[in-house]
Amino acid sequence: MKKAMKNSDSYWQHKARQFSDLYAGQPFTGIPSRIVARFLKDRTETLQRLLPKTSIRHVLDVGCGSGVHMKLLAPRVRTVAGIDSSRQMLIFARRTLTRSAKKNWRLIHADASAIPFPPHTFDCIIAMGLLDYVTSPLQVLRECRRVMTARGVLVASMPKKPSIFSLLRSPVGDSIKRGIFHLPPVDHAVTKKELLLLFQTVGFRVVTLTSVWSAMWMVKARL
Ligand SMILES: C[S@@+](CC[C@H](N)C(=O)[O-])C[C@H]1O[C@@H](n2cnc3c(N)ncnc32)[C@H](O)[C@@H]1O
Repeated sequence: MKKAMKNSDSYWQHKARQFSDLYAGQPFTGIPSRIVARFLKDRTETLQRLLPKTSIRHVLDVGCGSGVHMKLLAPRVRTVAGIDSSRQMLIFARRTLTRSAKKNWRLIHADASAIPFPPHTFDCIIAMGLLDYVTSPLQVLRECRRVMTARGVLVASMPKKPSIFSLLRSPVGDSIKRGIFHLPPVDHAVTKKELLLLFQTVGFRVVTLTSVWSAMWMVKARL
């Protein structure tokens, strides 16, 4: 897998444990922990609301991280594949998924800008917390479109702009985020207009657009 390294790439490689612990609710007690836990709970509930109610066969989790969503989805689908550009994150994903009863998952080291699957493979694709950091959200969405079936669904998140959390995207905010929440600075935050244009440019139809805590857009899109 070849691509230019960005700051956040090195973060996902070197801080995979902190990130994985954070998402498992482990790193600290007290207020930061409660904030993160609450945010993640609301995010997961929104994801579940946006996923198709009808049966899903093949799911792709792009930028699967520590595999929390794959674990959630595995029991209700035929297969779930996860790709991530950080080998370290994939190690943690493997640990998360090994604890899952169903063995219908696979993990692949790959970049989201060149998804290693043939066209029309997945009827559901999720990309949570990914478009924030990739070099080109447009190219990643093009790849998602390519590997999605004609009647498939994409559920993705993207940082929202403006947001009451915009302060956390300033240089001072970035160091607070890194120090307390173990998260790198985001590269892309978008307004509603920018988001709709982005998805429309790729050929997606946004069917639901909602947000979590005014921090993050959550999009359900179809072709
Ligand atoms: C904020 S984490 C989100 C993880 C998971 N989707 C979740 O919501 O818990 C971002 C993940 O995207 C991965 N990532 C970042 N850029 C990527 C790229 N270009 N291709 C594939 N994965 C990427 C990182 O390694 C990291 O695991």
